[in-house]
Amino acid sequence: MDHTITISGRDATFPAGSGQSVLEAALRANQWLPHACSQGTCGTCKIRVVCGEVEYGTADESILSQADRQAGLALACQSSPRTDVTVAPLEEGAPDGPVHMLRDHRGTVVELSEIACRTRRLVIELDDPMEFSAGQYAELIVPGRGIARQYSMANPPSESTRLEFHIRLTEGGLATERWIFASLAEGDRVDLRGPFGRFAIHDTYPEPAILIGGGTGLAPLKSMVRHALGNDLLPEIHLFHGGRRETDLYDVAYFRALEVADCRFHYHPVLSEENWDGATGMVTDAVVDNFASCKGYRGYLCGPPAMITAAVKALKRRRMAPRLIFREAFTTQQDVVSVPE
Ligand SMILES: Cc1cc2nc3c(=O)[nH]c(=O)nc-3n(C[C@H](O)[C@H](O)[C@H](O)COP(=O)(O)OP(=O)(O)OC[C@H]3O[C@@H](n4cnc5c(N)ncnc54)[C@H](O)[C@@H]3O)c2cc1C
Ligand code: FES
Repeated sequence: MDHTITISGRDATFPAGSGQSVLEAALRANQWLPHACSQGTCGTCKIRVVCGEVEYGTADESILSQADRQAGLALACQSSPRTDVTVAPLEEGAPDGPVHMLRDHRGTVVELSEIACRTRRLVIELDDPMEFSAGQYAELIVPGRGIARQYSMANPPSESTRLEFHIRLTEGGLATERWIFASLAEGDRVDLRGPFGRFAIHDTYPEPAILIGGGTGLAPLKSMVRHALGNDLLPEIHLFHGGRRETDLYDVAYFRALEVADCRFHYHPVLSEENWDGATGMVTDAVVDNFASCKGYRGYLCGPPAMITAAVKALKRRRMAPRLIFREAFTTQQDVVSVPE
């Protein structure tokens, strides 16, 4: 049965379909609620249930403890209403750009290619455009399994009917090993929904930016680079991309050509396990080596949780203001019990 959700302090009441999470219902009604992973792994979406009852869903004790539940807290991305409810987000504050309505989409796979070791580029031509901000992600629906997985758009928002994703194989993964790397093929029809997330660039900023990506963490950064350069949003961009070996890097020719064509853009590929004619070591060490001080810069970090933790430390050590550090951790189901910070 459908119930209604009211957001406390806002003139906003909207329906939630059966089993729909509070977050999904809010975003479908164009009501922003703070969130990052949509997976129950980050805790960004904590809400207070002011009135009514929710089903908590699968929220790990490390993210939502028993004490939290007893205090009336829930995760908006995991909980669904059992009655009509009134909720209040713990963290207020809208994104500093447009809120895009969450919608279902269908599209056709027009490219599925191997671009690096265990990494594929998936391009989907949508039937209808998806409005999103550079850096946001969509959820691909795995056919027949009723599960969704998060993947960041690598194309700029101006290409709203042709979405590009960079997807890394996860051993035993339902979406990757058993679908995208197994049976998915060009011409297939795909269901997805989006956009989600608050990791985004949408405004003009006075500070130059340092972007750090590990593996397919490059995807949202590529969207940001293309969007920011195309719309003059940042005075200067340094993109660091880390991989273990040269075969982990991709779009190298694209970024090298961009560096030649646009003097605001600087590309720094870094390898941690192989000597080559470029930088070696951890990608975060390369940032520290290149910048005596990061004061006055903005930072955008994306990739595995351990890389994000190391990058935040490195940038703070180089005196980047914490309020100017933005991050997207590519957590998976495995990270539910061990999320940093
Ligand atoms: C905001 C966001 C954006 C992302 N963007 C990208 C992107 O652009 N590109 C990209 O490659 N990835 C991205 N990811 C990661 C992606 O969403 C998937 O998590 C990843 O592809 C693995 O999905 P899977 O279904 O193949 O694996 P899953 O089936 O989810 O399995 C993942 C791992 O967890 C283990 N596991 C599964 N269930 C459990 C359980 N119950 N307990 C313990 N361990 C378990 C599995 O053995 C496996 O090792 C993003 C994640 C987030 C949160
Ligand atoms: S958005 Fe809900 S836990 Fe991350």
